[in-house]
Amino acid sequence: MILLTSLVVWLTCLFTATSAQQPTDCIKPQPTSQAFFVMGCGKPITVDRLDPIVSPGRPSQHLHTVMGGSAFDFDLDYNKTQTSNRTTCSVSKDLSNYWVPTVYFHDKKNHTFTAVEQVGGINVYYQERMDWTDYCAGQELLAFPKGFKMIAGDTTRRAFNSSRVEDGAVEFICLLTNNEPGLPPFSGFPNRTCDGGLQIRIRFPSCWDGVGLGTFSSSSSSSPNSNSNSNSTGTASAYNNTHVTYPSRLDTGTCPPTHRYRIPALLYEMTWAVDAFNHLRTPGDQPFVFSNGDKTGYGYHADFFNGWDVDLLQKAIRDPSCGNETGGRIERCGSFREFLQSNEVQNQIEGLEQKVEGEWKGVLEGGELPGGVRVGE
Ligand SMILES: *[C@@H]1O[C@H](CO)[C@@H](O)[C@H](O)[C@H]1NC(C)=O
Ligand SMILES: *[C@@H]1O[C@H](CO)[C@@H](O)[C@H](O)[C@H]1NC(C)=O
Ligand SMILES: *[C@@H]1O[C@H](CO)[C@@H](O)[C@H](O)[C@H]1NC(C)=O
Ligand SMILES: *[C@@H]1O[C@H](CO)[C@@H](O)[C@H](O)[C@H]1NC(C)=O
Ligand SMILES: *[C@@H]1O[C@H](CO)[C@@H](O)[C@H](O)[C@H]1NC(C)=O
Ligand SMILES: *[C@@H]1O[C@H](CO)[C@@H](O)[C@H](O)[C@H]1NC(C)=O
Ligand SMILES: *[C@@H]1O[C@H](CO)[C@@H](O)[C@H](O)[C@H]1NC(C)=O
Ligand SMILES: *[C@@H]1O[C@H](CO)[C@@H](O)[C@H](O)[C@H]1NC(C)=O
Repeated sequence: MILLTSLVVWLTCLFTATSAQQPTDCIKPQPTSQAFFVMGCGKPITVDRLDPIVSPGRPSQHLHTVMGGSAFDFDLDYNKTQTSNRTTCSVSKDLSNYWVPTVYFHDKKNHTFTAVEQVGGINVYYQERMDWTDYCAGQELLAFPKGFKMIAGDTTRRAFNSSRVEDGAVEFICLLTNNEPGLPPFSGFPNRTCDGGLQIRIRFPSCWDGVGLGTFSSSSSSSPNSNSNSNSTGTASAYNNTHVTYPSRLDTGTCPPTHRYRIPALLYEMTWAVDAFNHLRTPGDQPFVFSNGDKTGYGYHADFFNGWDVDLLQKAIRDPSCGNETGGRIERCGSFREFLQSNEVQNQIEGLEQKVEGEWKGVLEGGELPGGVRVGE
């Protein structure tokens, strides 16, 4: 009898799960939704003016720091990712690429830019964010399909609006040295020194429409005068990211009915050695910029191009040893055991040769960033 009642409640739940209100009549246990594993990548596979999502087939407007598989190029598709013979990340079956703009120190006294050293590679958190509506609807977290790609953030954003969920996706953690208390995260470049370095985090959308892979349409309809070689503004205009969106509370909460499928909630975490420039700073001045010319920090963004063995990723998502009790430690994940690469191996992986000409390291003179990018007002 109890069983039967449960079944009825469970079925009711199945049919009402799309309305995002009450969990009271759903007898499925509230999921912990804290499971995650951390994919570390020891170092970039390249630093180059390339972006096969936003600017396929040509140099990108600005420079990127790129982690992951060695097939990264002007153009990329799923099959090409699988031709990578190496990756700088910790699972050899993950031939994805993960990329972000590069951080520079802007010396306003002599109009030079110096690339900031990136320390420790990247941590990509694969967070399994399901809520009761998904469980009650009998859904599970889905591995990214073949051909899937997406971006987070907006290279053109220069302000912070606290009522926009997506504006909270970028966080700057000003790391201090040993005994100083931690500071709350900043939403743009912090206007102070960070003696332990600057950690930048960005969260990706985790609600998917179940169909789209992220499409680039070469016949840009947004501007009749747009020429495919133009790199001045709105570089993302021809790339359509509407296949994904954020859940109601950024990385928790409910997905809208238009995007009801859950994919792993990715979070990129990278640290930059900004403290190496402390002696060159002018008090009260924020001297760091991204390679896209953004000095506010609000224009930070990140790209993901899926190169996973999709079945393996799905298996890991279902594998409890890859989830909540491991504190994110990927070494404990049974599904990945035979494919793990130590940090030492990752750091010995041969990088790619730069494909777009132009200096990016050292002190850049002439008041321009790579690609002729200037710092915006
Ligand atoms: C990718 O590779 C698969 C299997 O080798 C093949 O069936 C498919 O046609 C390829 N796709 C493209 C777009 O080349
Ligand atoms: C991958 O291929 C490149 C170029 O052919 C070669 O230099 C490199 O050693 C190969 N790496 C691995 C891990 O096989
Ligand atoms: C400009 O300043 C940088 C430090 O920010 C220094 O390394 C560089 O040598 C200076 N260059 C010139 C031309 O003065
Ligand atoms: C902030 O975002 C909200 C919600 O999208 C919008 O209604 C509001 O106009 C925005 N405020 C500013 C100053 O842009
Ligand atoms: C982006 O793609 C979606 C879904 O395919 C479509 O509805 C929308 O109109 C597209 N947006 C633009 C700006 O092309
Ligand atoms: C940084 O802080 C200083 C002193 O607290 C202030 O004068 C300056 O306007 C601030 N700059 C920015 C960009 O917020
Ligand atoms: C991990 O998940 C299992 C079930 O999936 C649950 O029983 C356990 O309490 C969870 N542990 C933690 C630390 O959340
Ligand atoms: C991008 O713009 C810069 C200067 O604004 C120019 O030097 C560079 O050639 C442009 N790149 C492309 C691909 O058009």
